[in-house]
Amino acid sequence: MNQRRILVTAALPYANGPIHMGHLVEYIQTDIWVRFQKLRGHNCTFVCADDTHGTAIMISAKKAGISEEEWIEKIRQQHIESFNGFDIQFDNYGSTNSPENKELCHQFWTKLKEADIVIEKDVTQLYDCEAETYLADRFVHGTCPYCKSENQYGDNCDKCGHTYSPTDLIDPVSTLSGSTPEIRTAAHLFVQLEKFHDFLNEWTQDGNHLQKEVANYLKGHFLGEPLRDWDISRPGPYFGFEIPDSPNNFWYVWFDAPIGYIASTKQWCDKNNENFDEIWKNPETEIHHFIGKDITYFHTLFWPAMLKTAEFNLPTKVHIHGFLTVGGEKMSKTKGTFINADMYRKHLNPAWLRYYYASKLGSRLDDIDLNLDEFVNKINSDLIGKVINLASRTAKFMKGESLTAEYPDDGGLFEHAAKQGEQIAASYENCDYNSAMREIMLLADRANKYVEDNAPWTLKKDPDRKNELHQICTVSLNLFRQLVIYLSPVLPELAEQTGELLGQPVEHWDESQKPLLNITVNKFKHMMKRIDSQKVEDMIEESKVPDETEAPQFNDSSEPLEKEPLEAENCNFDEFMKIDLRVARVVEAKEVEESNKLLQLTLSLGGDNNFNVFAGIKGVYNPEDLLGKLVVCCANLEPRKMRFGVSEGMVLAAGAGGKEIYILNPDEGAKPGHRVH
Ligand code: 2FM
Ligand code: ZN
Repeated sequence: MNQRRILVTAALPYANGPIHMGHLVEYIQTDIWVRFQKLRGHNCTFVCADDTHGTAIMISAKKAGISEEEWIEKIRQQHIESFNGFDIQFDNYGSTNSPENKELCHQFWTKLKEADIVIEKDVTQLYDCEAETYLADRFVHGTCPYCKSENQYGDNCDKCGHTYSPTDLIDPVSTLSGSTPEIRTAAHLFVQLEKFHDFLNEWTQDGNHLQKEVANYLKGHFLGEPLRDWDISRPGPYFGFEIPDSPNNFWYVWFDAPIGYIASTKQWCDKNNENFDEIWKNPETEIHHFIGKDITYFHTLFWPAMLKTAEFNLPTKVHIHGFLTVGGEKMSKTKGTFINADMYRKHLNPAWLRYYYASKLGSRLDDIDLNLDEFVNKINSDLIGKVINLASRTAKFMKGESLTAEYPDDGGLFEHAAKQGEQIAASYENCDYNSAMREIMLLADRANKYVEDNAPWTLKKDPDRKNELHQICTVSLNLFRQLVIYLSPVLPELAEQTGELLGQPVEHWDESQKPLLNITVNKFKHMMKRIDSQKVEDMIEESKVPDETEAPQFNDSSEPLEKEPLEAENCNFDEFMKIDLRVARVVEAKEVEESNKLLQLTLSLGGDNNFNVFAGIKGVYNPEDLLGKLVVCCANLEPRKMRFGVSEGMVLAAGAGGKEIYILNPDEGAKPGHRVH
């Protein structure tokens, strides 16, 4: 087989928040494709990076009180960890804010300028003087100029459906600062995309670079009329790369993001002593982009035009997938279906999601639905019931024993499954993973029937039938291994465990074509658990975020009051004011050794004004947890002589007593010494 040289990319996630289950559809899809290509023996490299530029990221860093560079590095590390957790194995994970990317942006820019397709035009936009930034449409709210509905978005009205420019909004408000933005005009740079019209017609419609439905969509929505100029600059302040010949103007994030694919490749080449030109300049190399349908426009119109101008390879194929829905609906924070990658991992096994997504992904753009009941059933019945079971029911009879030297007669099962290999491979190649999984499970059904029919557990009981037992187990374990090889792009960990069990790592697809013989079977170690649906429910529950637009619900019980009714006599204002309550800081805290109830606290009212208090909270609070905390105390309680010293005040706490004691903390801003009234 000819070895293909393949570069694969997945969309660069914004460095502006955690990876969630929606993202994972794409990264899992791409990772499976890459692992499949590698398993087939192709020379395949998988690169990605964080997409780090733009206003939103600038604002997030500001809110966090750190520099943009610190912010994007922190998020990048989080992303890398999430991806690792799902066995998504990039060859390089870069950042668009890298020197390699900057250098490449300059190269692209020089070529665009030489081609004379960049023009300058004035753009009028809303500007937030407090946040000191131009406002993208989504950062402006106001009253619809058509139907006068209040609190509408910057570019369209929810109520009447009109679209408009944010500068037309009545009473616009910046959602960043709450201030009224002003209208400002600045020069922007545009790429004249229309100059590529003929090229894009051809590239999008011929040559099989796009799924048919995508090609049709582009024809129907964009290519039927002149292509609009593309605004690729933003005036400062903007977190990005400054445009060399245009001071205080920066490349728009969507200009440098796709160049980030190339920059990440460059980094990989430099680290691994590989020839960069072989990848991005040699037309023999295949370039495959995996993206979601929302960013079709950028990858199928601008990007090919830019690559062509800068004389880089054009994409061989842009593979576009749909969105994730959960239970048939958009992911929702209030319903707990907006699930972050790390939250998923806290409760469930990533391999399960890899398999479930694979079983749902086809080569079309349909959204894929995560149905939680189906998820549980599929894993338990397919992976555990059909695949793992095959090994767990037979490997235990072969511990330390050898598989037979010749492959026994299995009625053609192995051969049939070997033959199906090419069809399964074709499904992987076309991103029809659902077909591949279906086919593999049909093979698993046949294999399980073989085990049932031959009941090795019965043979095991009869020492005279040891040979037979070995034959049955040789067949079962080989059928199992064959399935695992076919599944290994989806379930790399299972492939590894199987490699350990049989002393032969899974390294090449073709290993599915020949049975393993004469090798010693190792001890069977547990491979994968069943899903407990309670865990899925726990994950949903923990992902729920209260809807801020709904009035909060408070369902406090009346029990505390019933236990301790309001029975105290009224006190008048003067009486109340006699109690001098103060904010104080705990500057020292230690246990009173001789007492099993008391902690000794030194409270400070600021300056040198310290005093000593014994509080009955030993065993409820650790002294080290109290250190530095602000508390409320009664500062004029008569000093009380106790066995261990004098207590000069009292820390206020609520609760029923025993372990239920809760110290009162003042809100942020209060200072030691402040009076409480
Ligand atoms: O839509 C997004 O999440 C973008 N950050 C994807 C960028 S892909 C590439 F072009 F960089
Ligand atoms: Zn309206």
